[in-house]
Amino acid sequence: MSEFKGKFDALCAEFERVLDEYLNAVSLEPSVLDESFRYSLKIGGKRVRPVLMFASAQMLGGKISDVAALAVALEMIHTYSLIHDDLPAMDNDDFRRGQPSSHKKFGEGQAILAGDALLNQAFVICLDECRKGRTYINAAALIAANAGARGMIAGQAADLFYQGKDAGETEYEFIVRNKTAKMIMSAVAVPAYVYGADDNIAALLLEYGKNLGMLFQLTDDMLDVSGEFEKLGKTIGKDEKEKKISAVSVYGAEKCRQMAEHYCELCLKLLAQLPYECSFLEDFTRYVLGRDK
Ligand code: IPE
Ligand code: IPE
Ligand code: MG
Ligand code: MG
Ligand code: MG
Repeated sequence: MSEFKGKFDALCAEFERVLDEYLNAVSLEPSVLDESFRYSLKIGGKRVRPVLMFASAQMLGGKISDVAALAVALEMIHTYSLIHDDLPAMDNDDFRRGQPSSHKKFGEGQAILAGDALLNQAFVICLDECRKGRTYINAAALIAANAGARGMIAGQAADLFYQGKDAGETEYEFIVRNKTAKMIMSAVAVPAYVYGADDNIAALLLEYGKNLGMLFQLTDDMLDVSGEFEKLGKTIGKDEKEKKISAVSVYGAEKCRQMAEHYCELCLKLLAQLPYECSFLEDFTRYVLGRDK
């Protein structure tokens, strides 16, 4: 096992431990809500955002425990976004994380509510963390802003709005910067906010997160064409079928590869400007470029 894979798995395992601890203390009523709430959180997922948050905290000289609750909150918001993204009214996907989507398992109404519950409980966690002081308030505000109407939701709204329409590079950039990159920006920059790092460090991490997010969605779009269901755990070929604005539809497959390499280079250059040991984030960037799931 490579050193990178070993560290990724260790951070993942740490996240799973913290998430289980949180879920063990949760008991929701009615039971269908309890089940749907846990289901989407525990059926899988690469845990890219919590792993990035933990790695960023360690890079800045901090501890996982400093950001563990915020990582759970961010993964809950991400998971809610996937449940709603899969609904028939949105991308109409029957599979997620290798299992039936929430609406396939619990019905559409309960899936909507499972998403709502995850989002709201995430903010219960964030507000609890705010009791730790001003820097946590800033971190929670970043999570809220990037997930909300000027963040992920704006991207999802534009994604739906332009579906089937003749949209180009400007629209694609807006969609991806918001629906995907903003959540990844939160993952890498929350620790900088929590530790009250200098503005230029936070700005570099936000810029890194933005470009990593663009790269992440580029590879997601490419894998929608050339990936395997067994590895990705979601239906392949949906973007073309649903006439989505994707990197492949806007740029074509060949240019996508070049753009992915360009974003990867940009990310590495940004990391090189940080006064920290960032080999894990460098490897993480290359992993996103080469991922098959
Ligand atoms: C899927 O995110 C949605 C995108 C932003 C492309 P992930 O690929 O991180 O999904 P999970 O969490 O591993 O299921
Ligand atoms: C989803 O983008 C981004 C979200 C904010 C959920 P996609 O619609 O391409 O994600 P997948 O392919 O369904 O995971
Ligand atoms: Mg979508
Ligand atoms: Mg989708
Ligand atoms: Mg996709």
